[in-house]
Amino acid sequence: MHEMLTLEQALAQNLSDAAPEVATALIDTIGAIAQACARISDLAGQGMLAGAHGLADSANSQGEAQKKLDVLSDELMSHHLDGCRHVAGWASEEHECHLLSKQHARKGRYLVVYDPLDGSSNIEANISIGTIFSVLPHVYSGMLPTDSSYMQPGHEQLVAGYVLYGPATIMVLSCRRGVLMFTLDKRSGAHGEPMRWLLTQEAVQIPAHTKEFAINASNQRFWEKPVQRYIAECVAGENGPRMKDFNMRWVASMVAEVHRIMTRGGVFMYPRDTREPRKPGRLRLMYEAAPMAMLVEQAGGRAVNGTSELLDLIPDTLHQRVPVILGSREEIDRIVSYHADPHENVSWQLFKTRSLFVQPQA
Ligand code: AHG
Ligand code: MN
Ligand code: MN
Repeated sequence: MHEMLTLEQALAQNLSDAAPEVATALIDTIGAIAQACARISDLAGQGMLAGAHGLADSANSQGEAQKKLDVLSDELMSHHLDGCRHVAGWASEEHECHLLSKQHARKGRYLVVYDPLDGSSNIEANISIGTIFSVLPHVYSGMLPTDSSYMQPGHEQLVAGYVLYGPATIMVLSCRRGVLMFTLDKRSGAHGEPMRWLLTQEAVQIPAHTKEFAINASNQRFWEKPVQRYIAECVAGENGPRMKDFNMRWVASMVAEVHRIMTRGGVFMYPRDTREPRKPGRLRLMYEAAPMAMLVEQAGGRAVNGTSELLDLIPDTLHQRVPVILGSREEIDRIVSYHADPHENVSWQLFKTRSLFVQPQA
């Protein structure tokens, strides 16, 4: 078997068209994130032995209870970003405000936004969890970043990525030049050396068709009509207008969900619902939706909030929530068309089934 490329080698190749100083800065920044994630992987992999299970007795910026692993992962990310001279500052799910690099807040050329531990509810169940990150330009490099420095649409991201802590630890990232997948070599890192990530797949493409969808069906009564229609049609299967059977999955870790879509296609939705009118969705735009949207689009898929491309949305606040619908392009096109005409004849009602998902007759 030929020698696999390391993260640095693969990125140098991927960024060969960029100015050398830009390529170096991006490789260093991704390298810092990769080292933090290798340590999170180690902590997560030790399970109860690391003493990192359970609640931390604190709450995050949005009042949600923090797990110990949320806090420890956030500290590891902060620590490694602070050591990177290209990073001016960062913002995390776990902090209300953005943070400044101790030494590089003025000179750093990048801002990093991240969800240090995605899928926290799965930690104790030993189900896959992840980290999501995004690198943005610090447009006014030379000045201290402020909250408004971060209010950039997703299509300005220079890098988007996630790390999946599953049976293997896998990093999937894009520098806007396709999607690369790396696997953490867990045998590396002896004698205090940095751990190695090896390129295991490149030019990742999401199949345009799928027969698989993921949604938290317990929220069905709160969904809007276009989503009700789409899911009902999938569930109607061979007997419905889609004339094929679908399969459903829900891991409750967005990273695991998106990774499945990256490997075999599918649709993931956390749509707008009517539970809490103040919260138009569950997921956060800057460090969950936007990076995943860029990865999905770079892999040939599509990511929307129902009516608009997620990458076009300009955030108002760091922790803004947004509806998320992403995955195989043909399915997302269909869901957008249902949103564009929510009053059109709901044909699935013609295919009466005994499904749990059949919408009550008005
Ligand atoms: P986090 O653990 O960072 O708060 O994010 C969890 C997110 C996402 O990963 C997942 O898709 C969703 O929340 C799960 O929501 P439900 O609890 O409604 O299933
Ligand atoms: Mn999350
Ligand atoms: Mn999180």
